[in-house]
Amino acid sequence: MTDQALWTPTKLGSIHLPHRLAMAPMTRSRAAGDGTITDLTAQYYGQRSTFSLLITEGTQPSGDGQGYLATPGIYESAHVEAWRSAADAAHAGGAAFVIQLMHVGRVAHPSNTPHGRRPVAPSTVAADAMMFTADGPQPMADPVPLDDAGLEQTLEDFRRAAALAIEAGADGVEIHGANGYLLHQFLSANANLRDDRYGGSIVGRARFPLEVAAAVADEIGADRTGFRISPANRLNDIKEVDTHALYDHLARGLAEIDLAYLHLVHIGDEPLLRRLRAIWPDRLVVNRAGADLDARIADLDNGLADVVAVGALALANPDLPARIQASAPLNSPDPATFYGGDHRGYTDYPALAV
Ligand SMILES: Cc1cc2nc3c(=O)[nH]c(=O)nc-3n(C[C@H](O)[C@H](O)[C@H](O)COP(=O)(O)O)c2cc1C
Repeated sequence: MTDQALWTPTKLGSIHLPHRLAMAPMTRSRAAGDGTITDLTAQYYGQRSTFSLLITEGTQPSGDGQGYLATPGIYESAHVEAWRSAADAAHAGGAAFVIQLMHVGRVAHPSNTPHGRRPVAPSTVAADAMMFTADGPQPMADPVPLDDAGLEQTLEDFRRAAALAIEAGADGVEIHGANGYLLHQFLSANANLRDDRYGGSIVGRARFPLEVAAAVADEIGADRTGFRISPANRLNDIKEVDTHALYDHLARGLAEIDLAYLHLVHIGDEPLLRRLRAIWPDRLVVNRAGADLDARIADLDNGLADVVAVGALALANPDLPARIQASAPLNSPDPATFYGGDHRGYTDYPALAV
């Protein structure tokens, strides 16, 4: 295998990448109580700035968008100021910086939110899963279905958060449509039981995610807007029945908006990857979940991906690009320090000695 393709520059819309190895979004639950990131977080992204693109941890566009403890926000001026230091740290090392906008929908517990309210979702269907809270694990809360005013407000929240991300110095935003959160809940017939224009058929279920993409693109430019999907991923109690047809429709709709990129969490359905590739012949970011690096890099050589995103290994190897170039051994990620805590397992993974 050659990694030549890996080290060539590219563009995702107006986002310039010096090479093809990106860091996937990863929640680390180390924000301050008001959703502001700390200096440690800026340092964490700065350490990883030799990746071509840093996609941040999921970041809520509103109080309603939060479901987990200590995740960051991008809806208040203090959030913007703090994110600017992370964007600057990323840029100083040459990385592009994209903030992932994550609205959790029903994957939430009121005690983890700033306002203590029940979560919002497409329908009154609680996720059959547990949520970690300050009082230990608790069942996910029963959500309140979004009415017309709620949908309008949510669109507005995404718009405003995207504008604030740009104000903070980000090169773009990634809309989180994956992993069982709000937009994935709309897509999936087991979480979306609506009988209005936002439910029912594939067209109905994809309507709100496409409206969010269109609103964000309108606000900051389609060339700075990415969208993440995770077809067939059952995380957070999602059960899809019509995956191929659903994602064909969604991917076509997103291509029509001409977004900067589509980001696929690929869990192994190779025919699906090829179908999506046909719809997105360029600007496709692939996160081949759990795969070894060779298999991910091969996607570039085989024309299946334009950029490869790496999650856990990026968390554990701040200088992964240099390690690949030197064929050096890799640090192993420590799941015990993934979420919450201090610098341990966050900013203290060693870089290669030089
Ligand atoms: C600690 C941790 C936090 C994560 N948080 C997010 C997140 O905020 N948003 C998201 O889209 N995916 C998130 N993911 C999923 C990763 O982006 C990625 O899809 C997954 O880890 C599989 O890819 P990998 O084998 O490259 O790690 C997270 C994964 C990990 C390990």
